[in-house]
Amino acid sequence: MVKLKDRPKPRFEDDRFIAAVPVPDQREVDDYRWYDGFSTIAAIANNPLESFNAAQYRDPYTQYKMFGTDFCVINCPELIHHCFVANRHNYKFSAIRQRILRAVIGDGLISAEGEKWQHARRAMSPMFTPRNVKVFAEMMKQTTLREMPAVLEAAADNNGELEIANPMAALTYLVLSDTLFSGDIDRGKNEILRDVSTALLYVGRPDPLDFMGAPDWVPRLTRLRGLKAVKNLREMIAELTRIRKTERDRGDNLPDDFLTRLLQVGDDDTRSFSDLEVEEHLLAFIGAGHETTARALSWLFYLLSNDTNARDRLEAEVDALDIDAVPPEQWGDQLPFALACFEETMRLFPPAPFIARTAIEKDQFTRTDGDTITIPKGTNLILNTWQLHRHKSLWEHADAFIPERFMGEAREKIGRFQYLPFGVGERVCIGQRFAMQEAMILVALLARRYRFEYAGSDVPWPKLRITIQPENGMPMRITRR
Ligand code: HEM
Repeated sequence: MVKLKDRPKPRFEDDRFIAAVPVPDQREVDDYRWYDGFSTIAAIANNPLESFNAAQYRDPYTQYKMFGTDFCVINCPELIHHCFVANRHNYKFSAIRQRILRAVIGDGLISAEGEKWQHARRAMSPMFTPRNVKVFAEMMKQTTLREMPAVLEAAADNNGELEIANPMAALTYLVLSDTLFSGDIDRGKNEILRDVSTALLYVGRPDPLDFMGAPDWVPRLTRLRGLKAVKNLREMIAELTRIRKTERDRGDNLPDDFLTRLLQVGDDDTRSFSDLEVEEHLLAFIGAGHETTARALSWLFYLLSNDTNARDRLEAEVDALDIDAVPPEQWGDQLPFALACFEETMRLFPPAPFIARTAIEKDQFTRTDGDTITIPKGTNLILNTWQLHRHKSLWEHADAFIPERFMGEAREKIGRFQYLPFGVGERVCIGQRFAMQEAMILVALLARRYRFEYAGSDVPWPKLRITIQPENGMPMRITRR
C-alpha cells in the first residue's frame, strides 16, 4: 500500500500536467489471499484507491477471492457492454452497495429495485428530458450569482486563501435545493449543509463489517455519527412536503420544482408516490446530485491551476461569452473548451467511480480475442471508472490532463463503453444532463469572476468515499479577475 511518506509528486510529461494519485500496489492479483484480507479490507475502508492492483490498470479484467467471495473487476468495454447492457438481467445491486446507500436514502431512486425502481424511473424520466432540464438553467444561473459571493468571499478575510471543496459543495447544494424546493427552506442553510455533508461522510462509506458479510442489525460504528444527520434531513423534507401538499390542496400556484413534479406523479393513470417515496427520492437527489458535481469542480480548478495554458484558454472562452444575451441553457454549446476540461476532469477524477453489482447466476463471455471469462454465481462485479479511465490499453498518456481528447474528431474516437463518469446501462445517471448544464453555468460564472491557484503545502490526495474527495480539502488562493 502507498504510505504517506511515499506519496508521488505531481509532475509534467511533455508539458502535460500529471496530478499525484495513488500508484498501483505492486502485488499481483493472486496475492489477495485470505491471510492478507484484513490489511486489504483496512485499506479499502480507509481509501480504496490505495488498494488497487497494477493489473487493474493493465488487464481487461481481474478476478480474485476475498473472505470466500469472488470478485471480478471489469475494465474492458466489450465486457462492460455484456454485463451492463446485453446480459444485465443477470446482475443485481451488490449487498455492500445497498447496505451503504440504504442506510442514507432507503428506497430512493438510486437504491430502489424491482417494480419500485421501474415505476419511479418511468415516472421521473420526463423530469430530466433536455427540455425540462433547460427550464432550470435560469434558476441555476440566478442562484449561483446570488450565492457565489457569500460562499467565496470568505477568502477575502483570510489573505485570499480558502479551502474550496466545501464551498463548492455548498454552492452546488444551494443550486440543487432551489431546483428541488424553490428555496422553501426555513432552517438555516448552514445547518442543512452540515447535515448533508455529515450524512455523506459518515453513512456513505463501507464499514469493515460490510465486507465480512455481517448482518444489518450489527451496528456499524463508523456510521453512527451520520444517522442523526440523516434523520434531520428526512424531517426537513417531510415538513416541506406537508406544506406543499397543503398549498396544493388549497389550489395555490405551486413553484415548478422537483417537489411539485414528484407530487404530480399519478395525475395521469400511473401510481402516485407515497409521502415516504417522495421523501426518499428527494433524499436520493440530494445524496447523488450535488457532491458529485462539486467534487468535479474542485478537481477541475486544481488541474487548471497547474495547467496555465488550459486555464488561459478557458478564461478567454468564458470571457467571450455574453452571459446577458445568451440563455444559460446554451452556454455548454458556446464553451467547447470548458466542456472538454470538465469532461477530462471527470475522466481523471470520476466523481462516483465505484459501480458494483452481484452475479445472480454464473455468466460466461468470449471476448473478440478468443479469451473466455467465467463469472461464477454470487461474484461481486465491479466497474471501477477510476481504473477504466486510466487504463493503459484504452488511453494514451492515461494519467495526463489533456482536455483536447474531448474535442472534435478526438472526442469521436472515444469508445462508448470506455468513458463512463455517469455509469452505464439502465441505471445510468438520470441527472446527467442536469449535472452537465449546472457545471457549465458554474464554470462560466466562477472562471469569469475568479482565478484559483492551488495554495496547499501538500498535494491534494484523492480519497474515495462515495465520491473522490481531496483528503485535506482543496486550499486555493482566490483572486478577483
Ligand atoms: C457530475 C455529476 C454526477 C455524476 C458523476 C453522477 C454519477 C452517477 C453514476 C455513476 C450513477 C450510476 C450508479 C450505479 O449504476 O450504481 C448515477 C446514478 C444516479 N444519479 Fe448521478 N451523477 C451526477 C449528478 C447527478 C445529479 C445532478 C442528479 C440529480 C439531480 C443525479 C441523480 C442520480 C440518480 C437518482 C441516480 C440513480 C439512477 C437509477 O438508478 O435509476 N446525479 N449517477
